[in-house]
Amino acid sequence: MAKPIQVLFVSSEVEPFAKTGGLADVSAALVLTIYNLGLEVRIMLPRYGSIKNTPSRLHDMIRLQGMEVPVGDKIYKANVKSSFMFGTFTKVQVYLLDNAELFGRPGLYINPDTKRPYPDNDVRFIFFCRGVLEMLKKMGWQPDIIHCNDWHTGLLPAYLKTLYKNDKFYKKTKSVFTIHNMAYQGEFPRSTFAKTLLPPETEPLIMHHDKVNFLKAGLMYADVLTAVSEKYAEEIQTTEDYGCGLQEVVKKRSRHLHGIINGIDVEKWNPATDELIPQKYDIKTLDEKVENKIALLQKMKLPYKPKTPLISIVSRLADQKGFDLIGEALDKMMKMDIQFVVLGTGEKKYHQLLEKAAKKYPTKMAVALRFDEVLAHWIEAGSDMFLMPSRYEPCGLNQLYSMKYGTIPIVRATGGLDETVEQVHASKGTGTGFKFGPYTSAAMLEAIRKAVDVFADQETWRKIQRNAMLKDYSWEVSAKKYIKLYQKLLHV
Ligand code: ADP
Ligand code: GLC
Repeated sequence: MAKPIQVLFVSSEVEPFAKTGGLADVSAALVLTIYNLGLEVRIMLPRYGSIKNTPSRLHDMIRLQGMEVPVGDKIYKANVKSSFMFGTFTKVQVYLLDNAELFGRPGLYINPDTKRPYPDNDVRFIFFCRGVLEMLKKMGWQPDIIHCNDWHTGLLPAYLKTLYKNDKFYKKTKSVFTIHNMAYQGEFPRSTFAKTLLPPETEPLIMHHDKVNFLKAGLMYADVLTAVSEKYAEEIQTTEDYGCGLQEVVKKRSRHLHGIINGIDVEKWNPATDELIPQKYDIKTLDEKVENKIALLQKMKLPYKPKTPLISIVSRLADQKGFDLIGEALDKMMKMDIQFVVLGTGEKKYHQLLEKAAKKYPTKMAVALRFDEVLAHWIEAGSDMFLMPSRYEPCGLNQLYSMKYGTIPIVRATGGLDETVEQVHASKGTGTGFKFGPYTSAAMLEAIRKAVDVFADQETWRKIQRNAMLKDYSWEVSAKKYIKLYQKLLHV
């Protein structure tokens, strides 16, 4: 039998170790699926201070000690710790790159006290990328593919094609770079270039508008690029709004760019088996979903009104997610017969906006401005509708979770949201959600109004819920597409 393809997946976020958004969900679920499909895959992330060393999560065994990783004119010492990630029948090897000075901090990228990015994020992620390549050599494990994700890992493909180009160990190694979000680029001053230790001729390839740009490095040097939906793969080659200044770079690599839609972990996000929610249910017992609504409203201190739809949001509070539209539309929204729950954390201006709104409408709106995994599940299970008015959305996972829970998404037709949600036609009983096109509060309000109207006809609503719940967004189909790409790259 042929040797299985060996893959190292490198990501700055992996559930359940470290998460600020969907990257963590995707890293974990995709890798577990790839493993189940027969590949030898391992995963690597930094050993952040926030990772709890509990026995069930992290054994924290030292796998390598005292490894040396050069960054600029300094040599950093690194340890590699070993842990595992579990699926139902799966156990995947996890490596954590450890340097207490650089990563032994409470935040992943942002200092929670100052709310600003750590000033040495360039050093931290240069160290991470080089550390991964040094680790593999020390360990003697030679993956066929190194699969990188987002700007934090952007330098890694550049290293493979330059400093490690003539290294026999990496002679056959190919790199894949997945774009989860073009808006975060890892931009640093020109002086950062010296810290990368890349040869001088690479400078123009990783500089952009006079800044060192880690994302651009990944886009330029990886053997293959992917984006997390087909629609987003197209969008990022068009305008500044989507390509965030790198649209021409992406366009140049168009032939090597593939859109592959994210899936969801249906073991974790499934109302029939979800241990975190008050009342389990499935498509046949949909009537029991209401128990979750009652519990959620009680938790959020809102009155339960059987005929009033509950609309919710779980989101990073960032410009990407459309909170300016919500700010604009709020008073009009609150005139409708709806209730509104928001779980989120992020930019201060949106914390203030939401807190103020919840005070103004205490019986209609409640907010939880924190990161809360359990509440996220309660919201998916207990809400009638889920709002995602994103300015742009590479894929989006919450609309997929929502559909699985029979919670109907109301989304802006962009990126992965457009690709995964099918417009409702109430008279025909078809569709899985409500979409609006223009990025305006009027268009969003119109979509909410339509959803509220259809909700009043519970028979049709049930049909829409069933349509949504029957959609299959499990990882298997998309993971197979990644595997096909690996095979193509390796000519196997
Ligand atoms: P993004 O990666 O852009 O933030 P996604 O929709 O891909 O958007 O993924 C967001 C993930 O983060 C989902 O799993 C969502 O439930 C989770 N999430 C976001 N904010 C919170 C929060 N405040 N509490 C709990 N989970 C959250
Ligand atoms: C990014 C995107 C989101 C996507 C997630 C996982 O954070 O904003 O749309 O679902 O990555 O790929």
